[in-house]
Amino acid sequence: MLVLFLLPLLPLIASLPSQQPFSINTSHEGRINPLKHLSAISPFFIPTEKPTPLPEQCELDRVSLLIRHSSIMGNDEEYEETMKPFIEKIYNLDKSKLPKNGEWKFLKDWKSPINEDTLEVVSPQGKKDAKFLGKYIRKTYSPLFPSRKKTTTKKDKNKTPYKIWTASSTRDIDTAKSYIKGGFPSHQSGPDGEGDGEVVQLIQVPNKAKDWDRSLTPHKACDTFDKKPSLEPANKWLAVYAPKVIDRLRGVIPEVANELVDQDILAMQMLCGYETIATGSSQFCHLFTDEEWLDVEYYFDVRFHYMMGYGSHLSPYLGMPWVKTAKHLLEGKDTEGSDGGKGHKSTDDGTLGTFKKGPKLPEPKLPPNATHTQLLHPSFTHRESPAFVAVFLNLFNSSSHTHPSSETPPLDHRVDDRAWRTSHLVSFLGHVALERYHCKGKKHGDAGDYVRAVVNGRVEKMSGCEDGLQQGCKWETFDKWVDERAERWSDWESVCEK
Ligand SMILES: *[C@@H]1O[C@H](CO)[C@@H](O)[C@H](O)[C@H]1NC(C)=O
Ligand SMILES: *[C@@H]1O[C@H](CO)[C@@H](O)[C@H](O)[C@H]1NC(C)=O
Ligand SMILES: *[C@@H]1O[C@H](CO)[C@@H](O)[C@H](O)[C@H]1NC(C)=O
Repeated sequence: MLVLFLLPLLPLIASLPSQQPFSINTSHEGRINPLKHLSAISPFFIPTEKPTPLPEQCELDRVSLLIRHSSIMGNDEEYEETMKPFIEKIYNLDKSKLPKNGEWKFLKDWKSPINEDTLEVVSPQGKKDAKFLGKYIRKTYSPLFPSRKKTTTKKDKNKTPYKIWTASSTRDIDTAKSYIKGGFPSHQSGPDGEGDGEVVQLIQVPNKAKDWDRSLTPHKACDTFDKKPSLEPANKWLAVYAPKVIDRLRGVIPEVANELVDQDILAMQMLCGYETIATGSSQFCHLFTDEEWLDVEYYFDVRFHYMMGYGSHLSPYLGMPWVKTAKHLLEGKDTEGSDGGKGHKSTDDGTLGTFKKGPKLPEPKLPPNATHTQLLHPSFTHRESPAFVAVFLNLFNSSSHTHPSSETPPLDHRVDDRAWRTSHLVSFLGHVALERYHCKGKKHGDAGDYVRAVVNGRVEKMSGCEDGLQQGCKWETFDKWVDERAERWSDWESVCEK
């Protein structure tokens, strides 16, 4: 079924701003596009040319979708610790030290478009990208959407609205609204993308609320989750590759190179991403070799292995709630209007520090893990969640990989054939789908119900749940397998309490 939508989809992809400029071969050194190797700073792109089609004679029934928010103008931590010191260094540098010619010349009057005021804010391009994603998801899963028709009859009006769930940070809400504007006609999306409240409704899930089964931002409800320790191994690797870059630069911009520290190399590589997000292009993207881009990509993969991948014992615990919720939703019961229950006690938005509080959205009536009548369940969240979910589902961890994701990444050299590629998993708008489908036909003698995991359009094997066709899994197997894993990683309190 997916195949049907490819033809009309392709021209759209080619004209997408995020796609086209980035695929032009402008890099001096060679072949790779750095913007596709910046992990969580990679602007939205669709990594595979086309979504993996379902096996023949199969049809989709239901889909649960977990989507990271769209591109932001900068991340607090990356700005404070890495980019800001570099930016200030350049501003304060004796201008006579800066080259007058060549590709580094721009530094003389360079002004950073990244600053404190707009950190964590979705960029204008990020909004366009999220809108594009809404159209793309509508095309991909069209039969699972509510009808575009205007509601007229009284019966229609009493129907339960179709819900989109979002974590409560502003960047998640803004992304969800743009997605809604892309995926629904304007009479359903509402003027600002919050939904018309009748057919479409955007629901805000409080970030730290433990009684929502923690399904969208589990790490914010887990006190022992800590991003900092992962910096240590990542910086060990930085100390291997960055000095080599500085050495190379001594031959190009000797007086600047003498002032640079390892973090400055990382800063410039981050700025390639954030500056492109802010202004559409960045000189920093032209300053490094392919090898150096692959080195920074490895830096992020090391960091996220320990922060939210297989290298953290917390990851499967934190991935469990969403998968359990998704399984429950995929099970589905086609009853109408069961959502009208009693008001659910909502908890204060527990966003921290500089995360701005989200705008007012309708009060939720039931948590995401209640029984809902719709067929496609999208939820918007942060980079951590798709990674946790990948671990819980045992993706990228097959023993047939040379370097499965659960293997410890060496810190003295880069492993190129590793399965853990966070540029593919947690780029802006990176998404994980669980697709339930049924197949008929004697051809493969496998009529029945199946489920498969799809990451940014590409099917990925759930190792241990792989008895279906083409990397899928039988629904029954999945059902038991998820329950077993949920049992194994259920003791949330004991691992999350300080
Ligand atoms: C990009 O440029 C490099 C060398 O300049 C070349 O080898 C490579 O084939 C080009 N790639 C594309 C996709 O045109
Ligand atoms: C939903 O989550 C709550 C805890 O937050 C739990 O008690 C309940 O059993 C869950 N419901 C389902 C259907 O999983
Ligand atoms: C990853 O694979 C290894 C080797 O097969 C296995 O021992 C481990 O349990 C897997 N990790 C998860 C989270 O399932």
